[in-house]
Amino acid sequence: MTGGAGYIGSHTVRALRERGDRVVVLDTLELGNSDFVGDATLVVGDIADHDLVVDTCREHDVDAVVHFAAYKSVGESMQHPSKYFANNVDGSRRLVDAVLAAGVDRIVFSSSCSVYGTPDIVPVTEEASVDPESVYAESKAMVERILAWYGKIAGLRSVSLRYFNAAGASSDAAIGEDWTYSINLIPLAIRALLLGDQELQVFGDDYDTPDGSCIRDYIHVDDLAAAHLASLDYLASGGETTVVNLGTGVGSSVLDVIRTIERVAGRPVPHRIVDRRAGDPVETYADPAHARNVLGWEARHDLDAIIESALRWHEQQLTTSS
Ligand code: NAD
Ligand code: WQD
Repeated sequence: MTGGAGYIGSHTVRALRERGDRVVVLDTLELGNSDFVGDATLVVGDIADHDLVVDTCREHDVDAVVHFAAYKSVGESMQHPSKYFANNVDGSRRLVDAVLAAGVDRIVFSSSCSVYGTPDIVPVTEEASVDPESVYAESKAMVERILAWYGKIAGLRSVSLRYFNAAGASSDAAIGEDWTYSINLIPLAIRALLLGDQELQVFGDDYDTPDGSCIRDYIHVDDLAAAHLASLDYLASGGETTVVNLGTGVGSSVLDVIRTIERVAGRPVPHRIVDRRAGDPVETYADPAHARNVLGWEARHDLDAIIESALRWHEQQLTTSS
């Protein structure tokens, strides 16, 4: 598993270990935490290191790869495109060459709903046009295409999972998202609630939606983890290359999220309405039918469960850091 010391990867390591799979994590630890890999084997290194990848696959008898490692900040990708093309695209291309050289022909890839750009129709199906609006999103679309070509040419079979908005933390608050790196709505709203040092900025309340704020599909990180297990099983039983949306199928507005946090926490989230953020799609949420049909997977956690787990995690982080 590449990037297994990161946010979504670490939840997937846990789920795999809980069902008894052997897991070896390859992570630079640049943005990950070695404590998060639990009892999985950790190899500290880069996906672009061909020899390290080949040796790791051979030494640990790797039979499938789950590929999380990447940079994920949309804004940074527009300022430093080369950094994103190098790590996300060329790094992935090198990784695939190396795993194929080691005889591994199955890969589950972390793609993103951002490959759709601003969708014309919601819910979004996998047939919607791919129309990236950032270098980050383009890097994901490019890797999907690389995987498809390696499928035709080299027999690689892959599942590209297009996650919608990942959120939440493990139910025991042992692992979660480090909010020092996060610029996403839920951690920022919880930060505003718990620290009270700055208000959450709501980017626009004059959109053409029921309450005027943007709509997204927030998906619990443990549901994402479960989808990776289902994808590995799908490939192990001979499944062909496919792309799959991972979302709940339910859209929640920014103001819905704030109201849910306030209800769960029992106190207000300090916030104020500011201008729209450039490039924000008004409304996007997944059609989860393909995930159900192909992987037998569906989301089990709703927005309340996401918020409860995230709140517990961040409260606990504050307690241990103080
Ligand atoms: P994260 O930053 O928490 O984890 C990424 C991990 O990859 C980190 O531990 C980092 O150290 C490692 N890494 C980065 N480059 C590496 C390299 N060259 N070699 C080895 N390790 C490297 O991110 P996350 O939120 O867990 O996201 C995981 C994947 O899911 C990413 O590919 C991201 O683009 C994708 N994704 C995330 C979201 C989301 O909302 N978080 C949504 C859609 C897709
Ligand atoms: C959610 C909503 C904001 C912060 C990102 C990536 C996407 C994918 C998923 C990786 C939007 C609003 C946010 C704030 C706000 N990741 N918001 N105030 O942009 O939907 O998707 O994560 O692949 O590529 O772009 O997520 O959490 O930034 O925003 O009002 O301070 O919250 O406008 O409507 P986004 P987000």
